Amino acid sequence: MKKLAFLGLVSVAFAQPVIDPPFADRLFPFVRYGETWTGTPAVVKDAILPNLLVVYGSKEDPEVVAMAGRIAYYLGQWTEDLGLTVEDVRQSRMPELLVSDQRLKSLEYKNLVVVGTNNELVKELGLSFDKPTIKVVQKEGKSILVVGGANKEQVLQAGGYLADVRLNFRAGAYKTFFSFVALRGHIEKGEFDAALRLVRSPMGVSACGKNMALASPMVAQWSDELKALVRHRNNLLYVELPKALEAKDKDRAVSLWREAMLTCYQCHQGINVPQVRRFKPNESVHARHQQIAEAFGLVKVVGTEKSCIACHAGPTTIRGYK
Ligand code: HEC
Ligand code: HEC
Repeated sequence: MKKLAFLGLVSVAFAQPVIDPPFADRLFPFVRYGETWTGTPAVVKDAILPNLLVVYGSKEDPEVVAMAGRIAYYLGQWTEDLGLTVEDVRQSRMPELLVSDQRLKSLEYKNLVVVGTNNELVKELGLSFDKPTIKVVQKEGKSILVVGGANKEQVLQAGGYLADVRLNFRAGAYKTFFSFVALRGHIEKGEFDAALRLVRSPMGVSACGKNMALASPMVAQWSDELKALVRHRNNLLYVELPKALEAKDKDRAVSLWREAMLTCYQCHQGINVPQVRRFKPNESVHARHQQIAEAFGLVKVVGTEKSCIACHAGPTTIRGYK
């Protein structure tokens, strides 16, 4: 696997900063589902929107400001829109994402990602850092994630990790997840061309290989059995499945898809390999896959219960978010 060849390099380049509390960088409410194009016939009720503003100090070092821009870029990769309304357009105003601490004073906002320490927010919170750090604090019902360090180099190191590793990975992992579910829907409907386009699109499941390379600094230390599992998954998704789709062989495509889904479960839940996803995913963000499956008719309503057995059966019976 070509992409796996630089796993080691990537891991060394992005040493993990201090994360306080543990997993705060994974569980932070970066995105939400909400309405966009409000007031037009194209209104979408549950687009993926940013759930925060990215803030830097107006007197901050330009390299730190550029890093804030990099973080905003990856949020843009993950989200589908900023949540624009007709009213915004009438007033020539765009929803904002990246702002200075001065600008923030005249804005309403929910959560914040504060990049660097030379700003009023870090002063108000009374925080100081002696290592590259990602720290999440709660204040007045808002979550505030601070990208900090003892000096500019340390801030850039923590910021680079948040942008290039954490947000890049999550943007790709969720695109892959939702595309993977839609892929099954296309196969069931016999839409083989659409399925093939999804496998080959850089916005579809092919984001997965790249993700695995960036998944975590621990990847370099993964055992041979885990690396073999990644190869197995890649072979299913990028070699065998496209062949079955080209041959319009629905039964084989479904069985390959199921086998690929089992690999997700193996790593996430620790089935026959050590568990490498060590936290419960954010349920509200994950939930969209159920809606996608429902839109393809893959969730049957039995009485008052929803049945998810089209995908969750046998070893992939749902374990939930418990
Ligand atoms: C080789 C192991 C492995 C395989 C196979 C794998 N994943 Fe993952 N996945 C991980 C790890 C590790 C994480 C957590 C990374 C981290 O620490 O943030 C993760 C996280 C995710 C997340 C993000 C959840 C969150 O809240 O951060 C999604 C979505 C995801 N995986 C989807 C999938 C899908 C869909 C498949 C199967 C098509 C899959 N993964 C296969 C290892 C794997
Ligand atoms: C079209 C197939 C499909 C259908 C239908 C489906 N899911 Fe999933 N689901 C998946 C895939 C693929 C994953 C693996 C991603 C992962 O592990 O994060 C998953 C993961 C999950 C998880 C996360 C498990 C974990 O801890 O990682 C839960 C909970 C879940 N599904 C609930 C449901 C429920 C409830 C329904 C029915 C209303 C449903 N799903 C219907 C494909 C499907």
